[in-house]
Amino acid sequence: MRKNNVSSSSFYSALLVTLCIAATNIFLVSATVNSSSLSSLEAKALLNSGWWGNFSFANHCQLEGIICNEAGSVVRIFLSPVASCSSNFSYSSSSYYSYSSSYSSPHRKLENMDWTSFPNLEVLSLNDCNLTGSIPEEIGTLSKLTCLDLSNNKNLEGLLPLTLGNLTQLVELDICYTNITGPIPSFVGQLTNLIDLHLFSNRLNGSIPQEIGKLKNLVYMFMEDNILSGPIPSYIGQLTNLTYLRLSSNRLNGSIPQEIGKLKNLVHMSMEDNILSGPIPSYIGQLTSLTYLHLSSNRLNGSIPQEIGMLKNLVDMSMGDNILSGPIPSFISQFINLTDLNLSSNRFNDSIPLEIGDLMQLAHLDLSHNLLTGKIPSSIGKLINLHFFDASSNQVNDTIPAELGLLSNLGHLDLSSNQLSGQLPPITWLSQVQYLNLSHNNLSGKVLCGIYSVNGLDLSYNPLTRQIPQYGYDCSPPSPALSQAPSQAINKTTCYKAINSSKKRIVMRTLLISLLITIFIGLLAFACFRCRKTHKKEAKERAMKNGDICSIWNYDGRIAYEDIIKATNDFDIRYCIGTGGYGSVYRAQLPSGKVVALKKLHRFEAEEPAFDKSFRNEVQMLTNIRHRNIVKLYGFCLHNRCMFLVFEYMERGNLFCALRFEVEAIELGWTQRVNVVKSIAHALSYLHHDCTPPIVHRDISTNNILLNSEMEAFIGDFGTARLLYPDSSNETIIAGTYGYIAPELAYTMVVTEKCDVYSFGVVALETIMGSHPGELLSSLASPSSQNLMLTDVLDSRIPHPTNPVVVRNIVLVAIVALACVRSEPRSRPTMLCVSQELLVCKKTLATPFRTISLRQLLNPEMDFTQIKE
Ligand SMILES: *[C@@H]1O[C@H](CO)[C@@H](O)[C@H](O)[C@H]1NC(C)=O
Ligand SMILES: *[C@@H]1O[C@H](CO)[C@@H](O)[C@H](O)[C@H]1NC(C)=O
Ligand SMILES: *[C@@H]1O[C@H](CO)[C@@H](O)[C@H](O)[C@H]1NC(C)=O
Ligand SMILES: *[C@@H]1O[C@H](CO)[C@@H](O)[C@H](O)[C@H]1NC(C)=O
Ligand SMILES: *[C@@H]1O[C@H](CO)[C@@H](O)[C@H](O)[C@H]1NC(C)=O
Ligand SMILES: *[C@@H]1O[C@H](CO)[C@@H](O)[C@H](O)[C@H]1NC(C)=O
Ligand SMILES: *[C@@H]1O[C@H](CO)[C@@H](O)[C@H](O)[C@H]1NC(C)=O
Ligand SMILES: *[C@@H]1O[C@H](CO)[C@@H](O)[C@H](O)[C@H]1NC(C)=O
Ligand SMILES: *[C@@H]1O[C@H](CO)[C@@H](O)[C@H](O)[C@H]1NC(C)=O
Ligand SMILES: *[C@@H]1O[C@H](CO)[C@@H](O)[C@H](O)[C@H]1NC(C)=O
Ligand SMILES: *[C@@H]1O[C@H](CO)[C@@H](O)[C@H](O)[C@H]1NC(C)=O
Repeated sequence: MRKNNVSSSSFYSALLVTLCIAATNIFLVSATVNSSSLSSLEAKALLNSGWWGNFSFANHCQLEGIICNEAGSVVRIFLSPVASCSSNFSYSSSSYYSYSSSYSSPHRKLENMDWTSFPNLEVLSLNDCNLTGSIPEEIGTLSKLTCLDLSNNKNLEGLLPLTLGNLTQLVELDICYTNITGPIPSFVGQLTNLIDLHLFSNRLNGSIPQEIGKLKNLVYMFMEDNILSGPIPSYIGQLTNLTYLRLSSNRLNGSIPQEIGKLKNLVHMSMEDNILSGPIPSYIGQLTSLTYLHLSSNRLNGSIPQEIGMLKNLVDMSMGDNILSGPIPSFISQFINLTDLNLSSNRFNDSIPLEIGDLMQLAHLDLSHNLLTGKIPSSIGKLINLHFFDASSNQVNDTIPAELGLLSNLGHLDLSSNQLSGQLPPITWLSQVQYLNLSHNNLSGKVLCGIYSVNGLDLSYNPLTRQIPQYGYDCSPPSPALSQAPSQAINKTTCYKAINSSKKRIVMRTLLISLLITIFIGLLAFACFRCRKTHKKEAKERAMKNGDICSIWNYDGRIAYEDIIKATNDFDIRYCIGTGGYGSVYRAQLPSGKVVALKKLHRFEAEEPAFDKSFRNEVQMLTNIRHRNIVKLYGFCLHNRCMFLVFEYMERGNLFCALRFEVEAIELGWTQRVNVVKSIAHALSYLHHDCTPPIVHRDISTNNILLNSEMEAFIGDFGTARLLYPDSSNETIIAGTYGYIAPELAYTMVVTEKCDVYSFGVVALETIMGSHPGELLSSLASPSSQNLMLTDVLDSRIPHPTNPVVVRNIVLVAIVALACVRSEPRSRPTMLCVSQELLVCKKTLATPFRTISLRQLLNPEMDFTQIKE
């Protein structure tokens, strides 16, 4: 153990001063004492201790862990295997290691050493040295000691001897993680040079002595995790150099003394897990250097004093589990560096202040188990760093704010046991949520599949299922990630069927998700209302520009706008088969019997430039490209009432859903999966290498791979695709789906084909593994991942392939996919290369399938033997 890595120049300079004085003394002493007799005394004590066995060194100063001064007298005994005593003394610790390997001294006793024999000892570091027994009184004769470290000796027991009070030169006293018991004696008041006082994790009891107030130089006071009782002495206010005050996990009672307000240098104050009562003193507001304030798990009452608003440097504030009441003060908006805020399990009432949105650094917000009412403020959408949000067990009502969807880092969301009403948010907003609990509310909506990342999902005790529409289901993909970049797949009926047939089991497993559709009315309503008038005029102009508002082609039948409206009963929700980033997808059966998919931009979104742009982008891209594995666009409508695209209908929906539901996953056999991967490879190769300028899709994910009734794969959703012009900047905002985005996009904004190659690799792995490769992607470099067998990671829901051609294809897909997810973009193959690789290989594998490890696939020197196909 050692103190936190907080460097304190004052500490080191004070220490150095002490050392220099000590060093001067050494020469004075050695000049007056018969040094050889002292040396022999020391040698005798060291020998008799038995700590070094029966050593026979001519000079005891050469013993491991012993440092002598020039006169041959011991100044340091340093046996700690860990850094100790400011680590400036630790240069002997390397030799200690060789010592400990050549001797075995499992249990040393402090009592075995004659401590009266070391008048010059300055440093005694026995941290983690298997000490047993207790601390002998004689330790008190080491009058020059500046650092005493006896920490991490679990078998060291007994009391702190009163003689410790004689060690007035001590700068650092470390006695933590031992079995020492009894009180902190009042002698500590004599150690006025102390800078570090580490007494935590022992069994010290009794109260903190008032004399502690005499340690004017104290910077670190660590006393947590003992059995200390009684009040926090008001004398603590005299420790004006105190920077760290840790008193948590004791049995301290009474109120927090007002004098605490004098500790102007305090950076860290933790008092949680005690029995402190009364109000939080307003004087805390004077501790303007404070970054860390933990007062949780006490019996503090009253409201949070306004003065706390002065603590502008706060990073971590925890007041959970007290009896605090009143509103959450709006001054919290001042805490611009706050990352953690815990106000849970109190009696805070009123609504969550709007100002919460100003805490831009906030990552962890716990407001659960209070009496909060009103609406969750939409300003919460500004907390882009938030990854944990718990407001469960309150009385919050109204709808879930759409802005929660902007929190792309949110991993844990618990709004259970409130009075939330309205529709569930589209889950596409919650791209990274691992834990989602919305149970015990009044939410309605319809069930959808699609948030594969959610491990803990609880939507129970909501009136949800009542509203599942007759034809509907929603199979939204897990997200337009990172930005509000629109992204959406065309989805379809298979997910609905799967949900219907195995609904209970799915809910039980909590993996495959049910959630509800909602349209983000709140988000844009205001803007739309305002823009309405001007919009009408623009729409007319737009219509004129396009000549015809509906432009439908490449389809051997006429589609009129009216037919579409009729086929979908004016876009009735019953025909909706999915929602996503910038619209909903509908299934429409035309009078001719032909079924098409309609991707419709919601009206409010149509007026939002970003969505409008994606929509037009997709039209532009798809009107110019033709490939058998790219979803066909039949036409589009730009009407002032709605904008939609007309696509070829994909009976089996997206690959994401096909892999999530067992029934469908089993239908999607190995041959089909290999074909899916090949199709995507060919289509991407076409986009990258046959189109001029090249097109980068930018959002390849299993959500955007669609399957027709024959299980042939098609790339869909070109909302974020980009043309790569040779002379234009390739920089862009990041688009894509979390889990499929190439790692380099985290630090460069440059779009290249290699981003698609990476996403393709993930999709290919997901296709043969049956689930997203997840952590495997980041751990591929580790031996434990490389030792995995290919057969261990393949989808276990279908029997392992035995046909040699299928086996070879799977191995080939795995090799190619692993090459595509290399972190260095340049080392990834091109899609042209991938596509040809998958076409031309006609060999079969000589190595037995089950003996192939990921290591071999990463460095492929597979033994393929020519076979006749
Ligand atoms: C120091 O003490 C030793 C015996 O311990 C003795 O032999 C030696 O003469 C003494 N030296 C002086 C300078 O007194
Ligand atoms: C050290 O030596 C003494 C006598 O030389 C012997 O009695 C003792 O047992 C030895 N101790 C160890 C630990 O070897
Ligand atoms: C140790 O002390 C020296 C001065 O003697 C100082 O320069 C150095 O920073 C110190 N090292 C550590 C780790 O504190
Ligand atoms: C501490 O004692 C144990 C046996 O009780 C031994 O295995 C270990 O090596 C000892 N550690 C040191 C640092 O001597
Ligand atoms: C402290 O603990 C010791 C035993 O560990 C006990 O005898 C003593 O009464 C305790 N003192 C207080 C103040 O609780
Ligand atoms: C407190 O720290 C400062 C420098 O940080 C030092 O000058 C002073 O001596 C220390 N002690 C007291 C009692 O202020
Ligand atoms: C604190 O606890 C002690 C017993 O440990 C008790 O005597 C005292 O009354 C308590 N003080 C307060 C303010 O609760
Ligand atoms: C806080 O608790 C104390 C008892 O510990 C009580 O006397 C006081 O009235 C309480 N204050 C408030 C504001 O509830
Ligand atoms: C917030 O933190 C930054 C860097 O950590 C620091 O420079 C700044 O002073 C802090 N702001 C406030 C108000 O404390
Ligand atoms: C929410 O609760 C408050 C009272 O706490 C009430 O005034 C308000 O009308 C409620 N709002 C909704 C939407 O139920
Ligand atoms: C943009 O990317 C394309 C294709 O990779 C490349 O040919 C072109 O040179 C790039 N443009 C710039 C300005 O980097």
